[in-house]
This record gives sequence, C-alpha cells and structure tokens, in this order.
Amino acid sequence: MTEREPDMMPEAEVEAETPETQYRASFSLKTKDAAGTGADAAVPAKVTARDVCVFYGKKQALFNVNLDVAQHRVTALIGPSGCGKSTFLRCINRMNDTIDGCRVQGEVRLDGVDVNQKNIDVVQLRSRIGMVFQKPNPFPKSIYENVAYGPRIHGLAANGRELDEIVEQSLRRAGLFDEVHDRLHSPGTSLSGGQQQRLCIARAIAISPELILMDEPCSSLDPIATAKIEELIDELRSRFTIVIVTHNMQQAARVSQYTAFFHLGHLVEFGSTEYIFTNPTEERTQDYITGRFG
Ligand SMILES: Nc1ncnc2c1ncn2[C@@H]1O[C@H](COP(=O)(O)OP(=O)(O)OP(=O)(O)O)[C@@H](O)[C@H]1O
Ligand SMILES: [Mg+2]
Repeated sequence: MTEREPDMMPEAEVEAETPETQYRASFSLKTKDAAGTGADAAVPAKVTARDVCVFYGKKQALFNVNLDVAQHRVTALIGPSGCGKSTFLRCINRMNDTIDGCRVQGEVRLDGVDVNQKNIDVVQLRSRIGMVFQKPNPFPKSIYENVAYGPRIHGLAANGRELDEIVEQSLRRAGLFDEVHDRLHSPGTSLSGGQQQRLCIARAIAISPELILMDEPCSSLDPIATAKIEELIDELRSRFTIVIVTHNMQQAARVSQYTAFFHLGHLVEFGSTEYIFTNPTEERTQDYITGRFG
C-alpha cells in the first residue's frame, strides 16, 4: 500500500472520539496540511478557534476563523492594518466582552474548554492568559508593585518573602532584574520604553500564565530593545505558549514557529513560519510578505 499524502487524508479518518483528543488531532492535520512536512505534527493545540466570527454592531470584523495555537510555540499573526488581528487576540481572553456592541460567534477553546461557556469565570480565565500591549503601560506604581500586583490579587504568594521571590524571578525571566534590582521602589514609569515593555512582560508572567498574548509588543521600541524582547520571547516559549501580533515580517520570521496571515477579516493562510515565508499557497500571502501591499 502506498502512503497517502497527509493532505489527502479525509478528516473522518483522523478524527478522535472525545472533544479533548479531537482538538489535538485537528491541529496535527492542519499542521501537516499547511506545512506539507508533517514536522511537529504531535504538538498539542493550546487554543483552538472554530468558525469564529466577530461583529462590532452590524459590521463584521472576523469571518469564520479556524486556527489552532500550538502549545509551547510562538504563533505570529500578520496582515494589514484593520484585518482583525487584535480582534482575534481579544477573543481568546474574552476582552471583546469589554467592548460595547461587540459580539463573538463560534468557538474558542483553551485546553479543550470553551472560553465562552456560561459557567466560565472570566477573572480566572484571564489569570491563565497574560497580555502585553503595543504601548508599554506600567501602572502608576513602583517597579516592584507593578509585578507584585497580579500575584497578590490572585493569592499566589503565602507571605512577603514569597512575593519578593515571585517579583525577582519574573524580572529575571523578563531580562530586567540586573538593570533594576537597586531601584525596585522607583516608579515603573521612570524606566526607558524598552525597559517598561520588559516590565510589562514581567508583570504578565508573574501570574504564571499558560498563554501570553502580545499585540505588537515591539512597535514603539528601538532595534536593541526589540532584539532583547525577541530573545526573551524565544526563551519564554519553553514555559509558555505565545501568540504575537506583528507588522514586522522579519520579526515574525525570527520569533515564530507558526504564522497566520489575515486579510479583511479572513484567515487567508496558516502554517509553519518557514512555509508561509518561503512557499505560501495563496497569492495574497506572497504579496503581503514581499511588501506588495499592506
Ligand atoms: N472597538 C471597535 N469598535 C468598532 N469597530 C472596531 C473596534 N475595534 C476594531 N474595530 C474594527 O474591526 C476591524 C478589525 O480591527 P482590529 O483592530 O482587530 O485590526 P488589526 O488587524 O489589529 O489592525 P492594526 O494592525 O491596525 O492594529 C477594523 O475594521 C476595525 O475598524
Ligand atoms: Mg491591532
């Protein structure tokens, strides 16, 4: 019997019986499909999005998005301004709930559990998901307090010493500790832009999230600060799953293992980063990554 091409495989043949195994199976198939290599086929999906549509009032911003985020990998979301990248990120931690008139349809699962299910505790959900925004936004508090805030409200430390340890470890992981250890009680806003962004990353990881969403985290940084954050992203993926929105193609190629290209609210193409950047199927992807539009 000759071996069948993975992309010829009918879905029914690989579909498993339970929702939990099904979401893993669907990721494997999709990865093989898109990348054509089968590499990483066994990586489980941390997040699965199925037929996700988002509306702002009557205006539809996302159309039937199906996307799987691989665990302990970096997934880059790319595409021209207004194509729905931030909207998609906000579906994962339910931040679209906070926008008046925004309506989400379809299914987003975190570890197989539907995040929009009625009995989900949104505060607890968000404690599993860290978020880093385009502009560094430290709280108007000290460096220490910026990082300690999350662990304190989520009760992650039994006493002051444990809290100190969490703060130090988070700052170390964010590659900032050596630069700030002697001024932990200075305001977070007294740091440089690149340091503030690393402080925000330290704040995000202090609550030990499983997933970190980054929305253009380097767009206001210089090349040196950007390089530091990119290095950090690569280190963080051994512990966390990361989704990063970026307008910088080189950055997407450098930091991610998977790339999703969005255009006008549609997920046009998704696959391994190598595949998307060297041999995409869709002309629109090719045009975008080579700078012909966007
Ligand atoms: N709060 C909102 N109210 C109404 N429409 C919105 C809102 N936020 C986003 N939109 C619309 O939804 C679409 C997708 O926007 P989104 O911010 O997700 O795009 P994006 O890909 O992140 O763009 P950019 O690269 O510029 O950040 C756009 O047409 C935008 O105008
Ligand atoms: Mg955006």
